[in-house]
Amino acid sequence: MTVYDAESPVLEHVAAPASPSPPLPSIAHRVRFFTESVIREMTRVANQHHAINLGQGMPDFDPPEEVKEAACRAIRDGANQYAITWGAPVLRQAIAAKARSFNNIDCDPDSQVTVCCGATECMMATMLAIIDPGDEVIIFEPFYENYGPDALLTGATPVWVRMHSPHWRFDPEELRRAFSPRTKAIILNTPNNPTGRVFTREELSQIAELCREFNVFALSDEIYEYLRFNGTPHISIASLPGMAQRTVTISGLSKTFSMTGWRLGYCIAPPTITAAIRKAHDFLTVGAPHPLQLAGAAALALPASYYEQLRSDYRRRRDILVPYLRDAGFELEEPQGAYYVMTDIAPFESGLDATQFVREMITTVGVSAVPGSAFYASRESGRSKVRFMFAKRDETLHQAGERLLKLRHHLPRR
Ligand SMILES: Cc1ncc(COP(=O)(O)O)c(C=O)c1O
Repeated sequence: MTVYDAESPVLEHVAAPASPSPPLPSIAHRVRFFTESVIREMTRVANQHHAINLGQGMPDFDPPEEVKEAACRAIRDGANQYAITWGAPVLRQAIAAKARSFNNIDCDPDSQVTVCCGATECMMATMLAIIDPGDEVIIFEPFYENYGPDALLTGATPVWVRMHSPHWRFDPEELRRAFSPRTKAIILNTPNNPTGRVFTREELSQIAELCREFNVFALSDEIYEYLRFNGTPHISIASLPGMAQRTVTISGLSKTFSMTGWRLGYCIAPPTITAAIRKAHDFLTVGAPHPLQLAGAAALALPASYYEQLRSDYRRRRDILVPYLRDAGFELEEPQGAYYVMTDIAPFESGLDATQFVREMITTVGVSAVPGSAFYASRESGRSKVRFMFAKRDETLHQAGERLLKLRHHLPRR
């Protein structure tokens, strides 16, 4: 993504079309500063070279059988037209029940839950609903790559606050300095993509305190809420004192049920904010796919054992990949949650930056990952970072791991 990078080849490409005659109307200013998603670009290069793709965050396994069956049944039974724009009642009721028991958030499905096309649309609709051009939005960096364009599309000025490697903690003083009278919202994501960090109650309380003091919204992306490996409970910032009225909690079914292609996400917010989000959502997409929403309700009805199994499967996958990465020469902090490992390539003697390194990895050993530049506002800040993902079958991870060990011949350590 790298929104501000003036060296972007895509930027030049957009500004200078290949055949200028006859002249075409110009492309809108707001998208000129986007480069192609680095993640999707690497996926394309990986496909060209038949590499194992440990880049883009999609599993190579399916949702549970009964959930797939519920989707087929919904289509056969005739749920083939628009649902209510803000979500089928049965799904909103299931989300509200889950929010109460799992997130400790008390919400009314009729006035506080909005179903969107993925957490992706949730964040966009929320920002359109609350941000005016010129408002500042604080974003922790490294960040999930969509947040930068979301800010630009809504005219917000992003203010970055660094999570420092290797432990990916933020400095409370730096965070405080980022708040100003112009701050409208802060975006947080825990468990975190790309670092695997899970914010502690203390960190969330520090963020909450500043939100209250400066009268700021918290936009909390909790899409990896079930993927935690350090035994701590998931804490939603909306459940902290005084935060329910100023928080939009965003989550979805993509990651928890391995259905990234179904496009089901949801926002939970107080009624006045929900009403605003619903207006933006209605005009963006009208609604998420109706039959899949009904099957989504079936997914949310799975027993507690489903989530225990999910966690233990992901812990096992992490524990397969991490030793291979260390043996291949990467430096890393074991992730506490989500399904990514952020590594440092500084120990390699190649001198390549992360993008060159990933290209080299794809072409020599056949494994793809995401260069760190995707997660920082300036390309330079991510030049020695590479993110791997482990939402893959065990055999895929072993195969990728064996290939990565061969890196020692192609890209030796210092
Ligand atoms: C932090 C984060 N938020 C949101 C999303 C997108 O989720 P969805 O598929 O629900 O749009 C992703 C996907 O990678 C993500 O990592």
